[in-house]
Amino acid sequence: MSSVSITGYGDNLSVNGIRIGDLTPAGHESIEKEKGGLNYSPLENVVISHVKDSSTLIARRPDPHDVEKYIETEIIDGLCCYSAVNQGQLNQTIVDAVVKHLTEEKLPTVPRSIRHKYMSAFLLATTGISGMDRVVPKVAGVEAPELMFKISRRWGYRVKGIPKGEALVVAANGNFHGRSMTAVSLSDDPDAKEDFGPFVPGIEMVPFNDSNALESLFEEKGERIASFMVEPIQGEAGVIVPDDDYFQRVSVLCKKHNVLLAMDEVQTGFGRTGANFAHQLFGVKPDLMGCGKAAGGGILPISFVAGTDEAIGVLTPGSEGSTFGGYPLAAVVGTYAIKVMVDENLAENATNMGGRLIGNMESIKSDFPDKIKEVRGRGLLTAFEMYDEPHLDGHAVSVGLLEEGVYAKETHHSTVRLAPALTINKTQIDALSDAIRTVVKGL
Ligand SMILES: Cc1ncc(COP(=O)(O)O)c(C=O)c1O
Repeated sequence: MSSVSITGYGDNLSVNGIRIGDLTPAGHESIEKEKGGLNYSPLENVVISHVKDSSTLIARRPDPHDVEKYIETEIIDGLCCYSAVNQGQLNQTIVDAVVKHLTEEKLPTVPRSIRHKYMSAFLLATTGISGMDRVVPKVAGVEAPELMFKISRRWGYRVKGIPKGEALVVAANGNFHGRSMTAVSLSDDPDAKEDFGPFVPGIEMVPFNDSNALESLFEEKGERIASFMVEPIQGEAGVIVPDDDYFQRVSVLCKKHNVLLAMDEVQTGFGRTGANFAHQLFGVKPDLMGCGKAAGGGILPISFVAGTDEAIGVLTPGSEGSTFGGYPLAAVVGTYAIKVMVDENLAENATNMGGRLIGNMESIKSDFPDKIKEVRGRGLLTAFEMYDEPHLDGHAVSVGLLEEGVYAKETHHSTVRLAPALTINKTQIDALSDAIRTVVKGL
């Protein structure tokens, strides 16, 4: 019979006699490669141990003098878990709320089939900040677009009157909505799709930032189209910012053809782009909005769909649910994640620090015009794209940045995204920019 022995905490945490604090980066890598799914290829020779402050990670690197050992170095977190930690690591307000909740208030988990008192706080906070009528709590980010997809179809049949089984959802080329079957069915990335078919049917694709293409599709098939599901700024695609008037046009088209505008703000929400939610930058209001990542304050996976009474109103008991969506601890963390966004003016700091970062990157671009092609972004969702040449390799930049004490990751061969915590300060922004300059210079 198999058995397992688990003792200790932190570095003393030992599983079957293997003490975590004794493992070198190579040791961690070999366990992950032997025992984990092979669906990630993390940066090599580095393992994060803990955080020092809201934007500083402590990383273990190989000891250059002894292969059996490691050293610890500080890294500025230029990515903050793909925008899941907008409030900064271990945000004190959220940590205090969690500790108080678990030790004094004492209500970790009950299911949705019985009411708990913190759901009211979560619903008041999420509808309040989003200006939406209703909110449905979920867990992972991908569950937000997944649920928007379901709501779109049901709304299409029950409200718009699309013949049963014929509803279409429109998605934008280059999108990223996560990794579930629906999300990869919406995707046009071959790596995400290969050998996972057959895919969810009833999906039409249009180019992003092309309202004429959307108009043609609506003219042709609008009667059957339930929603247009789209990110306000495409994050994973390399921080693609649409034209200022794109979403105004999209919104007019959606209204004209009675199509729901379903915006995936999992990455762009919670102050990231300089507005609480990125659609506000473009002066439109979606019918459905999916949030995730920073909705959990970097502490818990929390997502939700917010929307109009008409759209969310199509859900009925039994049609949708989630054991941990909005469970008491998540409701508390989700409420405080919003409190921090508001009280700490995260969107405003994103505008100010993002402006500084983009300015710094523009200056690097003008110093290396043969290397950097474009600097893009809104708020602190930023990226620089290099020319498509073998030596201008995004992965090499990520590795080089790590050597310079910065964590950032390429999104494509030649694009590197920078999206630090929204609590980051000027000194850290400048340190991060200096590291980019050094690495780009050396390419
Ligand atoms: C726009 C968007 N939607 C959905 C997701 C999926 O979120 P998760 O990985 O938490 O499921 C992501 C993740 O990067 C995203 O950027």
